[in-house]
Amino acid sequence: MKIDLLKMVENGGCSAKISPVQLEEMLKFLPLPEDPNILVNIDTRDDAGVYKVNEQLALVFTTDFFPPVCSDPYEFGQIAAANSISDVYAMGGTPVIALNIMMFPSAKLPVEAYGDILKGGSDKASEAGTRIIGGHTIDDFTPKYGLAVIGYIHPDKIITNSGAKPGDCLILTKPLGTGVILAGQRLNIAADSDVNEALRLMKLLNKSGAEVMVKYNIRGATDITGFGLAGHSLKMAKASSVSITLNMNRVPLIGNTYALIDQGCIPGAAFRNLDYAEKDTVFDPDLDYNLKMAAFDAQTSGGLLISVPGRKEKELLLELKNSGLTSSAVIGNVSDFNGKALLLI
Ligand code: CO
Ligand code: CO
Ligand code: CO
Repeated sequence: MKIDLLKMVENGGCSAKISPVQLEEMLKFLPLPEDPNILVNIDTRDDAGVYKVNEQLALVFTTDFFPPVCSDPYEFGQIAAANSISDVYAMGGTPVIALNIMMFPSAKLPVEAYGDILKGGSDKASEAGTRIIGGHTIDDFTPKYGLAVIGYIHPDKIITNSGAKPGDCLILTKPLGTGVILAGQRLNIAADSDVNEALRLMKLLNKSGAEVMVKYNIRGATDITGFGLAGHSLKMAKASSVSITLNMNRVPLIGNTYALIDQGCIPGAAFRNLDYAEKDTVFDPDLDYNLKMAAFDAQTSGGLLISVPGRKEKELLLELKNSGLTSSAVIGNVSDFNGKALLLI
């Protein structure tokens, strides 16, 4: 029997995140521990927490897990692991060890499928130089998989949501559209070539992008996942007390993403993300509706959004492209806070 994990889920990947509006409500109940060694906590809505061990070493600690985004168990394992590890890369860290987190419906799937998911996760973790040293499994429907990851970072070299400075340029390292294309696949209107390209990009580690960031002493970055380009940009703008302008005409899209949106293929997560961001966002009256919705499309295992100071963006862009991130592009800029945190043009 050929297993098709997509038959088991409605919202796969990062589209399954709870709405950012609900998340903000929930976080009000979360007490934040006080400890001088906590260098980054949830206050800045960062990708991971950072805890100082000594003057040379801090730990970047994060977890992500989600339901399947693709049919094949091995591929799902790879994507989930790449996505979990990405939060360490987004902060400039080096992932070192990880634990599996798995919810698996043992009555509905053969154990080989479980094994294939774990194998995919393990292979992707190895590619990142990360050792999976344990985990935990719950019998549950629908299946969900991801990692809790610990990375190393120097305490003075942490890259955060709060590090964007007025005058910086913004570079995005992967094209947008995974949410739209996966929705199109369910409706049988997405081209195989687009689905395959989305799968390739979701499996692609943000490793080389992170290496370039560290080399250029970048201070502000995040990765683009469930809240979409606009949602994550807004979180960065707020944490940095700046305004961010995104030029949607410059944002690379995967294959026929634009045409799919034009056909009405807009997943619910995009509207949830729009709800969250709307009050802090100015939309240029000339902004194309399809590009606007692309900005809010939930990405699974998306690229890095890097805030680049000192007119280094051309150099950095070239290096990103040479490292294999060929769709990298300058897509916006950072300015002093001007009354609204986000401007989409
Ligand atoms: Co993240
Ligand atoms: Co995350
Ligand atoms: Co346990």
